[in-house]
Amino acid sequence: MPTVTPAADRSAMSQAQVSVRDVGKSFASRSGVAVVALEQVSLEIPPGAFISVVGPSGCGKSTLLLAVAGLERPTSGSIWVEGEEVKGPFPRMGIAFQRDSLLEWRTVLDNILLQADLRGRARSSHIERAQHLLHMVGLEPFASHYPRELSGGMRQRVALCRALLHEPTLLLLDEPFGAVDALTREQLNVDVSSICQVSDVTTMLVTHDINEAVFMADRVVVMTSRPGTVAGIVEVDAPKPRSHGFRTDPEFLRAASAVRELLEATGGFTR
Ligand SMILES: Nc1ncnc2c1ncn2[C@@H]1O[C@H](COP(=O)(O)OP(=O)(O)O)[C@@H](O)[C@H]1O
Ligand SMILES: [Mg+2]
Repeated sequence: MPTVTPAADRSAMSQAQVSVRDVGKSFASRSGVAVVALEQVSLEIPPGAFISVVGPSGCGKSTLLLAVAGLERPTSGSIWVEGEEVKGPFPRMGIAFQRDSLLEWRTVLDNILLQADLRGRARSSHIERAQHLLHMVGLEPFASHYPRELSGGMRQRVALCRALLHEPTLLLLDEPFGAVDALTREQLNVDVSSICQVSDVTTMLVTHDINEAVFMADRVVVMTSRPGTVAGIVEVDAPKPRSHGFRTDPEFLRAASAVRELLEATGGFTR
């Protein structure tokens, strides 16, 4: 049956930078029983917004992020980025994962420039931007160091610079702070949130950390346990940039407890 999108929906799609519409995703398993990772997930990300997706382990957060990236195909529904249906990797996207995937034999600067190399772009025209990004994350003096000489938090900053080198319009972050210690993680929350704001990049952060989700986001999408679907959306109405003090702000506490309640009500804490 031909699908015709109603005019009202088309205008909603053109306003949102990312539009996830009734997305389902099943994986075949060896036992023959399909694993339903996502079920009827719908969400919209306005241009320039920072959205966190929070939910229990295994609820399909990474699957959703990969589907938005065009690296997994939904089994049902559709995903639209900047008005076009996602059918493969979206070139104006930056992505970073929990494992920083830095190449140990390349210097910090060369790891960032890998983004240009992989895209077949001249590195000479990206060096200035790479240095600017290093300056923004406080790592300018480390440009010629090797990854083994950096702490976990510093490595993640380099991975973020690499993800931002080509000035993406959409940044996808999958638990990028999961492997760093708690204090470094809080500092990265502050720094990355402000870099995203300055870069005016639309960002989708996947995390299982409620405080992190709220601290960084304009909007928190709470997912149910598997099969993951949207349990609810919590708006975080607070100006940016946000400093560490925001963690004790009444709006932060209200939003964090609203996220917690949604998780509790939808089985997010079940063993
Ligand atoms: N490539 C895959 N093949 C088979 N099953 C998968 C694959 N990717 C994810 N899954 C399954 O889908 C579910 C959701 O996984 P995932 O998206 O990684 O969850 P989360 O990121 O929320 O922890 C899990 O049950 C996982 O085992
Ligand atoms: Mg995951």
